[in-house]
Amino acid sequence: MPELVQISSPVEEGPFEPRIVAFFCNWCTYLAADLAGTSRLKYAPNIRVIRVMCSGRVDPQFILDALAKGADGVLIGGCHPGDCHYQEGNYKAYRRVVVLKRMLHDWGIEEDRFRLEWISAAEGDKVRTVVNDMVEKVRALGPLKLGVPQEEFAEEMA
Ligand code: FES
Repeated sequence: MPELVQISSPVEEGPFEPRIVAFFCNWCTYLAADLAGTSRLKYAPNIRVIRVMCSGRVDPQFILDALAKGADGVLIGGCHPGDCHYQEGNYKAYRRVVVLKRMLHDWGIEEDRFRLEWISAAEGDKVRTVVNDMVEKVRALGPLKLGVPQEEFAEEMA
């Protein structure tokens, strides 16, 4: 799994701030996030980005691990259908997400905590929109209570 240990919690104390782990495809959404940064498009600082070579590389176990280790939500960003550099990686990601969403629902984890978006390298503004929207939705839901203390998450993500 990518190194979750390189991520730190945005806020240690005070009011609830959602902690979102984002798996961004190297060829599209990661570049779009970079574009958003260089274009000074501000988005919520609550996401911790993990770069993957393709959305199809995101194993469901990565998502479960992130949630189990204290993330309040998980976002996956991949190339638009037909644009995957590995042909079908994003279709694979989509199929996994459909199944995983059902499982998470059965476990009582709200749908808004897990999201897949197609964001091309040119869509910096979409990164901002999606991230801000997800952060607000997860903020409204409150912390994901899986029994992981804030301090433990901060330590894991540090
Ligand atoms: S290379 Fe971007 S989703 Fe496959």
